[in-house]
Amino acid sequence: MDKNELIDEEKIEKIISELTLKEKVAMCHGNGLFRTEGVKRLNIPPIKMSDGPMGVRAEFPDDSWMPIGNSDDYVTYLPCNTALASTWNVNLAHEAGRVLGNEARGRGKDIILGPGINIVRSPLCGRNFEYMSEDPYLISKLAVPFIKGVQENNDVAACVKHFAVNNQETERLKIEVEVDERTLKELYLPAFEAAVKEGNTYSIMTAYNKLFGYYCSHNEYLIKEILEDEWGFDGVVVSDWGAIHDTVEAAIAGMDIEMNVTYNFDEYFFAKPLIKAVEEGKISEEVINDKIRRILRLMYKINIFSDDRKSGRYNLPKHREKTLDIARESIVLLKNENNVLPLKDSKIKTLAVIGENANTMHSNGGGSAEIKALYEVTPLLGIKTRLGGQTEVKYAKGYSADKSEKEKLIEEAVELAKISDAVVIIGGLKHTAEDMELENNALTVSKDKEIKRYVDSEGYDKTDMDLPYNQDELINRVLEVNKNAVVVMLSGAPVKMTEWIDNAATVVQTWYNGMEGGTALAEILFGDVNPSGKLPVTFPRELEDSPAHKIGEFPGGEKVKYTEGIFVGYRYFSTYDVKPLFCFGHGLSYTNFKYEDLKISVNEEVADVDISAVFKLTNTGHIDGAETVQVYVKDAEASVERPKIELKGFDKVYLKAGEIKEIEIKLDKKALAFYSVEDKKWTVERGTFEIFVGSSSEDIRLNGEINLESSYKFK
Ligand code: BGC
Repeated sequence: MDKNELIDEEKIEKIISELTLKEKVAMCHGNGLFRTEGVKRLNIPPIKMSDGPMGVRAEFPDDSWMPIGNSDDYVTYLPCNTALASTWNVNLAHEAGRVLGNEARGRGKDIILGPGINIVRSPLCGRNFEYMSEDPYLISKLAVPFIKGVQENNDVAACVKHFAVNNQETERLKIEVEVDERTLKELYLPAFEAAVKEGNTYSIMTAYNKLFGYYCSHNEYLIKEILEDEWGFDGVVVSDWGAIHDTVEAAIAGMDIEMNVTYNFDEYFFAKPLIKAVEEGKISEEVINDKIRRILRLMYKINIFSDDRKSGRYNLPKHREKTLDIARESIVLLKNENNVLPLKDSKIKTLAVIGENANTMHSNGGGSAEIKALYEVTPLLGIKTRLGGQTEVKYAKGYSADKSEKEKLIEEAVELAKISDAVVIIGGLKHTAEDMELENNALTVSKDKEIKRYVDSEGYDKTDMDLPYNQDELINRVLEVNKNAVVVMLSGAPVKMTEWIDNAATVVQTWYNGMEGGTALAEILFGDVNPSGKLPVTFPRELEDSPAHKIGEFPGGEKVKYTEGIFVGYRYFSTYDVKPLFCFGHGLSYTNFKYEDLKISVNEEVADVDISAVFKLTNTGHIDGAETVQVYVKDAEASVERPKIELKGFDKVYLKAGEIKEIEIKLDKKALAFYSVEDKKWTVERGTFEIFVGSSSEDIRLNGEINLESSYKFK
């Protein structure tokens, strides 16, 4: 049943008429760090919220940022959003949402604060791991089923965040983003639009930063004009914690619930000052009524008043299975010369596992996305569990974030590598560092703290892309004694690999990959699972190659200028002919796929314009595998500057060894459009468009073109 059918607008109006101003206002602000206040007199419960995208966060008291510390809030730990995006699997995104929603309800929550769907603009943003991709189409395709999965059967609301242009952590509480309107419409808003219009998210969280001179929470253009009027959002707008700075401005702009990081709940902008503002006539009570209407609507959508409300469950075995499914498909085989992988376990009597990340748990870090995981299988545990007693697995730390004897660690690792049949190095980044100061839920770090930072964490951006703690030297020294040592990077964003990439035959990218991340990695390394992950972000060779750094600014000062405009990620690398280390969409398999016989047809008789690309895909190898086929579009004769290629379709296809399938990818006129600032409309200009079908943004296997007879303009 469509949840909107559950909503009895008349009843809502009746409740509103019975509420006093004080009671209404109590529903509009935090009265605990993660809850609002209800109205007992009318049986309206508080709304209970919890972070975040990778699982349901530990329980906090109402008035302290120290978790309660009970033993009943261990949960399923899901792969991070970048990992999920690397699967390019819309069904898995749906499953991830279902798990999260069920667990949130199981923990008694009403709103789960995720998914994070901001664009990955620079490799340095500390929260990239919580976000999905540099490409709005890929994010939209995954966020929509994710949100549906959360909300569909769980009587719980998703809360997509952070609306909008929250693409860095440095000065995140006040930075002003300068971005042009076309870029905003083409890159930074489409995933939010899809989350609202297709995903039907019941709530949305405004970002801390400013846009066009106003904080996002005070921003009538964002909230009223775009979100509510243009996209028809009828749900609840929640502030990020502490993102409201002015009662009247925020109330009128359309904020519904103010959450904050401090405990003086009555003093919040949407508490006593809101009552005062109404009493003084600065805000009409109808403005408050609209907030209550939205809040009550959300409550009906999640069945909050019903005895039959779903109860939800957490820590179910099937939830853990889903995390494993996602982890398996998220791991990206970046390079595999001489088919070093998969490792043949029968030939390996001694295996050296090197690197601190082999033996580090990450679930309990990262800021608000931290999870109290029921368990976490590290890479080392996964490998040992997979191999069992026939193989001797020995571990050497190799590097360490602790101030340690670097040379000694490297020497130990090299000695171990020398005497082992095979070597796996597991390095990368982590969520926590010793010098981090966590204040009030990891609020922010100001730019003037000139400390080198390497962490994938809320509140912090990285200061460069370098691999920390002498890992470059470690990797090179191990490769000197075993040129087939497998290098695995575990991180939420690309790191610089140029120091050793040419020496390494085999490189694998894994992520903060949930509680079964180590199991999945072992299965990939030993060939139980054929890798099928593809990069959802470009891996540049050097930081300076990436557009936010080359053309735009990052992290800026008081303002940050997005001068690179629409040329974010592969849109820049392809158009400006800059060779990345590994391109967007890249990911190898243990088998090979052949693409042939592309036929493209276009039908302009229908309103949306039907475009169909049909081709044959064959698994030409000896093992089963999955390929994500990608369709990119180029406007060959545009009157405005356009990227050389833009992703407009994809499909993840599973093929048995030798199997052939006919694949059809459909596009419509939106796939060809750019946003015209003059007309305030999406625009398709008649003429030629090239269609590219490939295995990555650079590995194009087939191409063709279409000719449009007419031009189109639409909202
Ligand atoms: C983060 C949000 C999070 C909230 C509550 C904020 O600092 O930006 O993503 O949901 O805290 O923990």
